[in-house]
Parts: sequence; C-alpha cells; structure tokens
Amino acid sequence: MSTRTPWWIRIPVVFFLIFGLMEYFIDSGDMPAIIAYPITQFFMLMVLMILIAIELILSSIENVMFQTLSEEAKERYLMAKNKKREWTWAKQLYQKMTRSRAIEREGEIILDHNYDGIRELDNVLPPWWVYMFYVTIIFGAIYLVRFHIAGAYDQELEYEQEVAAAKIAIEEYKKTAKNLVDVNTVEFLADASDLSTGQKIFTTNCVACHMADGGGGIGPNLTDEYWILGGGIKNVFNTISEGGRDGKGMVAWKQSLKPVEMAQVASYILTLGGTAPANPKAPEGEIWVDPDAPSEEIQGQVTDSTAVSMD
Ligand code: HEC
Repeated sequence: MSTRTPWWIRIPVVFFLIFGLMEYFIDSGDMPAIIAYPITQFFMLMVLMILIAIELILSSIENVMFQTLSEEAKERYLMAKNKKREWTWAKQLYQKMTRSRAIEREGEIILDHNYDGIRELDNVLPPWWVYMFYVTIIFGAIYLVRFHIAGAYDQELEYEQEVAAAKIAIEEYKKTAKNLVDVNTVEFLADASDLSTGQKIFTTNCVACHMADGGGGIGPNLTDEYWILGGGIKNVFNTISEGGRDGKGMVAWKQSLKPVEMAQVASYILTLGGTAPANPKAPEGEIWVDPDAPSEEIQGQVTDSTAVSMD
C-alpha cells in the first residue's frame, strides 16, 4: 500500500484522462466538445462524482480491514504506510546521466597535483553531454551528405518556394478582403457583379442629385470628361469617401458606405463616362487627364481640350 499514489493525484489524473479521451473521440468541429455539447459537462460532473465515490468507498474498506488487524499488524501497516515514497527510478536515471561522484567518495578521483591548495577531480564527462555530442556528430554527417554531396534543396530554392506560397496566399486573401480597399489601393472593378452592385448603390443614394443616367442636377454631370474634383478611379473614390467641397452638398459617404461599396459605385460612375444622358448638365471643372496614361494619349487629349475650350 505504501507505493500507492495519494488521492489528490489519482482523481485529477483519471479525470483529465477521461476528459482528454472524450475530447479526442467526440467530433465537435472547431469547438471543444465540452462547449459544443453542454451535455458533456454533465457527463464530466458525473465522472468526477463517481471518482470521489470510489475513493470514499476504498478508504472506508481500508478502514474496516484495518480494524480487523491485530495490534502488531496494525503497527506494521502504519509504518509501511508512512514510509515516504521514494523516487528511486528518477534518482537512478539522474545518477546514470551524470555519473557524478558523491562528495564523500571524491577522494577516489582526486588528482595528485596541487596548485596553491587548489586540487582537481578527475570527473568523467557526464553521459548526457556525451550522448548529445554524438547526436550532433550524426546530424552533421547526415547534413553534409544530404546537402553538400547529394545536393537536396538549398536556401535559395527554399526562399523562392516560400515567396511563391506567400503570393498565392496574398491573392487568396485579397479575394476575401475586398473591403480593405482605400484610396491608395482602389482599382477599377470591371466585374459585372461589382458594376451592378455599384449601380444599385447609385440608384439608392445618388440619383437625387446626379440623376439616374448621371446627367447631373444638384450635383455635376458625371458622364462628361470634366471633373471638379478629379477623374479616374482614385479621385472619384476619394470624392465619394470624403465628400465634395464644403457647402456644395456632396457629403462624405464613408460613414454610410463600406469601402468596397464606394469602390463599386465609383467604378459604375466611370462606366457612365461618354454616355449621352437625357438632360446633361453643362460641364463643370476641368478635363481630367490620367497622369498614368501613355504620353501620346495625353498629348491627344490636351489638344482636344484646347479645341473644346476655344469653342
Ligand atoms: C445631396 C446631393 C448629392 C448626393 C445625394 C450625391 N451627390 Fe455627388 N455631388 C453633389 C455635389 C453638389 C457635387 C459637387 C461637389 C463640389 O463641387 O465640390 C458632387 C460631386 C460628386 C462627384 C465629383 C464630381 C466631379 O466633377 O468631380 C462624384 C464622383 C459624386 N458626386 C458621386 C456621388 C455618388 C457616388 C453619390 C452617391 C453615393 C453622390 N455623389 C451623392 C451632390 C450630391
């Protein structure tokens, strides 16, 4: 009986063992079973109660048996029970791994030289250290053969593979994270689905001032190439997000529209360019020239603009 582990170790160990097995065997998706299926909480409570009950029964059996013993046997039993549990195996392992010499036996390994009273012990190298050293030698040999002789992959290849994987991950992420666009990253969305969503947003929020065909009313004409606040997807997105000049009536839409919605409606507005609205408002602002466009085009547009403005 003396080697028996005490109840305060036994109960938690068995309890968590059952808990672990339960989590392992019950398939509950991402969530732990204990949360996904509340009934399991009740189950674990029962397990705990049963474990405690078993302990109580065992200890009372022990008690009853004890009472039946003779005085002498009782004494022996108590002595055996009170003997401290010894971690013999751990001590042995420690001794084996260090091979250290007890202080009382140091005399056996002392060397006979003596420097001003400082003497030296001839300790063996501790086995744990020696084994680790062997492991590094084996590792080194395998490494040398694998990478320097057989020429498995090298760091450059590893780097390239990781970059390629990261690029794919970024693309994946961008697909799901359209909402992250801002004025610096926004791009014209050519997808039909984006444009039709953009049109819906326009119809709901913007037609009151810009007309359904973009011809303009309170707000300026959005179909011509003249822009007060700059054309191109970035400027248009910025105008929608931040609003027009103070007091003109164009509010900042960033409070009510998500970034992706502003990108969609901005793209839709750009598709209106060059269409012929029923009641076009007179051009306001200036012809907007895309600074990113190839230079020839800019030349062409600039000559055009003088021609138009001279009219
Ligand atoms: C209350 C009326 C009103 C509503 C509603 C409105 N706008 Fe405007 N919008 C204006 C006015 C006025 C201007 C001119 C702002 C200025 O001159 O600074 C303007 C300017 C613009 C411009 C810049 C045009 C240019 O020439 O630079 C864009 C783009 C625009 N609006 C898009 C939208 C979109 C998209 C919506 C809907 C989400 C919308 N507006 C809703 C009144 C409105």
